[in-house]
Amino acid sequence: MKDSINIAVVGLGQIGIYLLNELNTKKKEIKIKTGKNINVTAISAKNINKKRRFKINKKIFFKNPLDIFKKKKIDILFEAVGLSDSISKKVVETALKNKINVITPNKALIAKHGDYLSKLAEKNRVNLEFEASVAGGIPILRTIKEGLATNKIKKVYGILNGTTNYILSEMENTNETFDKVLKKAQKLGYAEPGNPKLDLNGFDAFAKVRILSALAFNNKISNHKCIMEGIENIDLKDIKIADQLNLRIKLLGITEIINGKLFETVHPCLVSKKTYIGNVNGVMNAVITEGKPVGESILQGEGAGPGATSSSLLSDLLSVLRGNIKYPFGIPSNKRKSVKVFNNDQYSNSLYLRFEVKDRQGVLSYITNRLTKYKISVKRIIQTPDKRNMRATIVIITHKTTEINIRNCLSIFKNNKNILKFPTLIRLYN
Ligand SMILES: NC(=O)c1ccc[n+]([C@@H]2O[C@H](COP(=O)([O-])OP(=O)(O)OC[C@H]3O[C@@H](n4cnc5c(N)ncnc54)[C@H](OP(=O)(O)O)[C@@H]3O)[C@@H](O)[C@H]2O)c1
Repeated sequence: MKDSINIAVVGLGQIGIYLLNELNTKKKEIKIKTGKNINVTAISAKNINKKRRFKINKKIFFKNPLDIFKKKKIDILFEAVGLSDSISKKVVETALKNKINVITPNKALIAKHGDYLSKLAEKNRVNLEFEASVAGGIPILRTIKEGLATNKIKKVYGILNGTTNYILSEMENTNETFDKVLKKAQKLGYAEPGNPKLDLNGFDAFAKVRILSALAFNNKISNHKCIMEGIENIDLKDIKIADQLNLRIKLLGITEIINGKLFETVHPCLVSKKTYIGNVNGVMNAVITEGKPVGESILQGEGAGPGATSSSLLSDLLSVLRGNIKYPFGIPSNKRKSVKVFNNDQYSNSLYLRFEVKDRQGVLSYITNRLTKYKISVKRIIQTPDKRNMRATIVIITHKTTEINIRNCLSIFKNNKNILKFPTLIRLYN
């Protein structure tokens, strides 16, 4: 790579504008560490006149990022628009075809088109780096690709979404409802003001799980249907009951190899307060890897925000400038295996089931008989009557059972007049 490097930054939102400032202020440091002089010679966003956190040089602004390729000689392009398709895909694709290295924090794009784009990068002998796409500032992808390179990894799991972790922690600390805490999260900038859905329903964490699987197990990115549940149905009541049981609810992303097959999921989990993951609170993320011979490794840090995300983007930049990376997913694309998937129906866990029922005789035995019919054994029952409203809350902790079994078992509770709402199910983890 030559000594003077031209850089383009496409997307000047929360991440792009912070990154641009870092690139402009850390030139000397980058020169010392890599021997290269960097210059930002093109920037792009939708609106040239928008008020931004840092000033921009309007002389190098492009309204249409695709014009950059016609008018400038670029060596490295940062894509920070954030769409899974359309302009984000077009810009990255065009850059790679033009032999321009690409760095992006865009998990939606990589989880959907990572296989195709990595092949394109390899064919054109340039880099495609996406450390910032998973767990913000935590260097988990490079850790898997380099630090743990010769280990056989069998499982990666953790808290991959700071918004949901903040909401769950704050509900526990303040006794406030989900809706109230969500509003607080939006005010603090932890949740998107307009549409926080992709954080809350587990989609954001799921895209990260797919990227982690591909790196950890050297397989192609999977696209099969998985158990993906968010935290929208978690009630303050569940958090309080969990607390009494010395447990905490965490939204975990999990990817592992079970009997030689890939299993990926995102769902709320009840974890012991004594575990490491049970004590990762607030907006923090944490990722745990289990590998052989290294054993368990844990990385914790800020999973979002411009500072943490830029830290990963700049680490990618330095790796590209030093010339020490080759394959986007750690091994050549043609060596990455196709995915054999584990049957979700056979996923098994102990369960927390919360029933809201009419306080009538026979309701509890009706529920336990149904569980017995499906050979689901009960570990613990907590019944809390609400005499004034003639209702009761029944919480049942079960021994391990499979997804298919519990699904079939619970189906009957949809239409029972004594059961006031379909039971809340939370899986116990380990
Ligand atoms: N925010 C985080 O904490 C975080 C953390 C990790 C990863 N990421 C990832 O970082 C990426 C960017 O996120 P963000 O939060 O910075 O998003 P954002 O604030 O919504 O910024 C998006 C930027 O893209 C620009 N843009 C939209 N359409 C465009 C087009 N057709 N041509 C050129 N520019 C266009 C927008 O221009 P205008 O400014 O003119 O509207 C804006 O500057 C996403 O992939 C996200 O998943 C974000």
